[in-house]
Amino acid sequence: MGKRWQEKRKNEHYYKKAKKEGYRSRAAYKLKQLHEKYDLLAKDDVTVDLGAAPGGWLQVAREKVGREGFVLGIDLEPIEELDYENVKTIQADITEEGIEELILKNLPRRPKVILSDASPNISGVWEVDHARSVDLGRSALSLAQELFDHEGNILIKVFQGKFFEELKREARKDFDFLKASKPEASRKRSAEIYLIGKGFIRD
Ligand SMILES: C[S@@+](CC[C@H](N)C(=O)[O-])C[C@H]1O[C@@H](n2cnc3c(N)ncnc32)[C@H](O)[C@@H]1O
Repeated sequence: MGKRWQEKRKNEHYYKKAKKEGYRSRAAYKLKQLHEKYDLLAKDDVTVDLGAAPGGWLQVAREKVGREGFVLGIDLEPIEELDYENVKTIQADITEEGIEELILKNLPRRPKVILSDASPNISGVWEVDHARSVDLGRSALSLAQELFDHEGNILIKVFQGKFFEELKREARKDFDFLKASKPEASRKRSAEIYLIGKGFIRD
């Protein structure tokens, strides 16, 4: 079996699985797999999901935090409402000034988890897309630094490339545990990689 064919079959598998199981995106399985491996979300956690449309991660996060937790999704695009009282969405740019205040205003308490699956519009110019993706990752990391109280976990998607190590180094200062990981549900050919940080350290 050729590699390309295997990949195509895997993508179709997750696409069909998401349809059948009622998830809004195949990306839902990436969060599920990373959570299974790294135990990122706990019951009752307040979670912020950056770049959340169409909402697959929101669905998975709500499953994990349960009825007493809270999930806030943010995207440039509008997100169709989810049928849960404790899932809220706002349309906003995560790189804009004032985003911390906007997020805090929409949360019941400070977050324990910050997720970011935000991706730039793909220009096709590799260097540009990589740099934009790292910028989005950096915005997610600085939101974690601003918004976490004395503990917190992050999961941040970035397109791999020369600036990735820099971002990793920055994050290493803030977390007890830091890892880069690619879940099985992510296409092998895709450059995406996920940065996982656990045990936030407040200086
Ligand atoms: C791969 S999708 C997210 C999929 C989502 N995790 C799911 O499971 O449905 C990436 C999203 O990032 C959003 N995005 C990109 N730049 C953004 C920004 N500056 N602020 C907010 N959202 C952004 C895009 O609009 C897009 O919807």
